[in-house]
Amino acid sequence: MAAMNRNSIPDTINEQDMILARNLTYIYKDEADEEMKPEETAGKKKEGFFEKSEDNAGETAGGQSAETFKGQFQETSGKTNGETTALRGVNLSISKGEFVAVLGTNGSGKSTFARHINALHVPTEGVMLVEGMDTKEEANVWLIRQKAGMIFQNPDNQMVASIVEEDVAFGPENLGMEPEKIRMNVKEALEAVEMSAFRNATPSKLSGGQKQRIAIAGILAMRPECIILDEPTAMLDPRGRTEVVKTLQKLNQEEHMTVVYITHYMEEAVLADRVVVMDRGQVVMEGTPREIFFQVELMKQVGLDVPAMTELAWRLNRQGMNLDPAILTVEEMVNALCPSN
Ligand SMILES: Nc1ncnc2c1ncn2[C@@H]1O[C@H](COP(=O)(O)OP(=O)(O)OP(=O)(O)O)[C@@H](O)[C@H]1O
Ligand SMILES: [Mg+2]
Repeated sequence: MAAMNRNSIPDTINEQDMILARNLTYIYKDEADEEMKPEETAGKKKEGFFEKSEDNAGETAGGQSAETFKGQFQETSGKTNGETTALRGVNLSISKGEFVAVLGTNGSGKSTFARHINALHVPTEGVMLVEGMDTKEEANVWLIRQKAGMIFQNPDNQMVASIVEEDVAFGPENLGMEPEKIRMNVKEALEAVEMSAFRNATPSKLSGGQKQRIAIAGILAMRPECIILDEPTAMLDPRGRTEVVKTLQKLNQEEHMTVVYITHYMEEAVLADRVVVMDRGQVVMEGTPREIFFQVELMKQVGLDVPAMTELAWRLNRQGMNLDPAILTVEEMVNALCPSN
């Protein structure tokens, strides 16, 4: 763990913490929203490793610098005249190897929190540590972004090259990895997302789910310990959503990758080890999916749904039935309604 000598850093750091937010507060200020214009970012992309790159840097987010560009574009929306307090004293720790789903209504602060993990924002107050490294320290940022890679919503904005393997190589190349290592990492990353057969394909011809898997491979090729996904399935059809979620589950279970997964789909959150619910910049609920979704009325109070089967059990119980209120899946509902013996 990195040396820590700042007074602001809590003394409750656990070796197992991948991400630790203490009293994390973030205020968007007008002057801080002076974003780089797309034309200023154009041309900053490096040549593709596989030497067939196409210059479309203005819409990229596969590697570190590309992610930053993308974030900057996204941030131009939602400005206010004065200040917006997007996070208010968030305390949260995420352990290595955990799969955590982050839920919350629009504007609750999910993306702002995610961007702190990647040091795209630094706290206005409080502290954010990634593997013990304070995101406020300039010197840590490069390493933090290697440890924690981000995936965004729009797969089209995350493609940087005209050939899949070139696209996946973009991140490691920016990290200055040795060519041999890049080749190996790209190969393994494509295998991990089951897209090896598409290594010479044109990203724009792929389906949304395939594009997101390529974007995930682009992060994996940098060998991160943690992957943060900000509504990666929001623009995908059900099949694409399943592909992406399955890929993440596999990475989490087989490679022990820490996954921070922001989603509006409750059925996806059911698959997480832990669910964190945000509301107006604060963490308001935290627990296993069952512990969280069981609280149907509280979830409704923060403007969220629960999985369809949990909702159904809740409604049936209100009609006088006596079902387990913590039912999450269709299978559990079937078993509850038609016990086999
Ligand atoms: N660049 C910005 N400038 C000013 N305010 C912002 C900016 N980005 C976000 N905000 C505000 O910060 C608050 C939190 O926004 P954030 O994007 O983190 O929410 P979110 O939970 O990700 O929402 P969504 O579900 O819509 O993606 C909101 O009030 C939002 O309007
Ligand atoms: Mg968001």
